[in-house]
Amino acid sequence: MEKSNINLNSKLPRVGSTIFSKMTQLANQHHAINLSQGFPDFEADPKLLELVDKYMHNGDNQYAPMAGVLPLRKKLSEISDAEFGCSYDIDKEITVTAGATQAIATAVAATIREGDEVILFSPAYDCYAPMVELHGGIPVFVKLIYPDYSINWEYVKKVLSHRTRMIILNNPHNPSGSILKESDLRTLTEITENSNILILSDEVYENILLNGETHQSVRRFSELAARSFVIGSLGKTLHVTGWKIGYCMAPENLMREFQKVHQYLVFSVNTPVQYAIAEYLEDHETDKVSETYRHKRDLFLEFTANSRFKPLTTHGGYFQLMEYSDITREADVEFAERLTTEYGVAAIPLSVFYSQPTDHKVLRFCFAKNEETLRKAGLLLSKV
Ligand SMILES: Cc1ncc(COP(=O)(O)O)c(C=O)c1O
Repeated sequence: MEKSNINLNSKLPRVGSTIFSKMTQLANQHHAINLSQGFPDFEADPKLLELVDKYMHNGDNQYAPMAGVLPLRKKLSEISDAEFGCSYDIDKEITVTAGATQAIATAVAATIREGDEVILFSPAYDCYAPMVELHGGIPVFVKLIYPDYSINWEYVKKVLSHRTRMIILNNPHNPSGSILKESDLRTLTEITENSNILILSDEVYENILLNGETHQSVRRFSELAARSFVIGSLGKTLHVTGWKIGYCMAPENLMREFQKVHQYLVFSVNTPVQYAIAEYLEDHETDKVSETYRHKRDLFLEFTANSRFKPLTTHGGYFQLMEYSDITREADVEFAERLTTEYGVAAIPLSVFYSQPTDHKVLRFCFAKNEETLRKAGLLLSKV
């Protein structure tokens, strides 16, 4: 293709290729164990794969309804009701999406206008700020308190303004593995009371609680649920991140606006996968997922116990943070690169999740891997 001379004024001038692609590329080049990107290296339940096959051969291969197939919306509503006492109308308040990523982009596109402020907690998952900026919104970052990555609510109160349109929560939190407590959600209820502030609650790790704690979804708090887009990822819960399937639940007036955008962004998502997941969830409890990952987290900690990395406490999700100041004072990006090229293990430096330079000498390791991968990584990390 010939070079284009079109003068494009980028809408996202600061966005380049993500650190995840960069580290994965580096890991592949150096045949390193890739604990950088968040995806499982083990297969999903064969029963789930058989169900997709069944629905594909059944002829369920054409467009699904815009909001998603009825059995899946029904199942998602039942689960929300059983777990959080919050039921959503299956016709008006649930949409199945192409992963949580599309749900986040859609919720932001449907509600954020030029000049609206959106409170984000850093370190922050990478897709929130660019989506806010794309629609003319202004990300307002509040740093989580190191090392437990809890929320400084006094600071949140200070940055709230008449322009605050949305607060984006991520619970359990990527990259830190922290979770919100009931008291956090009570405080959030108080500070948003009588306001027009929306909440986008990214709960993609809702089924990965590592220490027996309860998931404090905004759905447990009726005042919060009434102003929230709750977003989940079936790809995360069922170990099939490549299927890119997620959902959004919200009160009718919010969902109406969400669907106006959704219908023109994707219209609808993969039909046989939706039917398969709906049937699979009839006889499979999602709370087993926590057990699977608790075991993997414990193995990773055991295999790295003799290393000079210091684990921080994780509560949810499938990432373990490790502090490395006993090893080196190098910047975390440099050290992550050297760890990949010289020691053969790829991880993500935490500083990339901040908008302002912040380096606590911490790396993020994904432990959604089989035992052998974790054992090998542990051996390599123990040599550092
Ligand atoms: C916090 C968070 N939100 C959203 C996503 C995206 O989920 P999905 O793969 O369903 O789009 C991820 C994936 O890593 C994530 O960690």
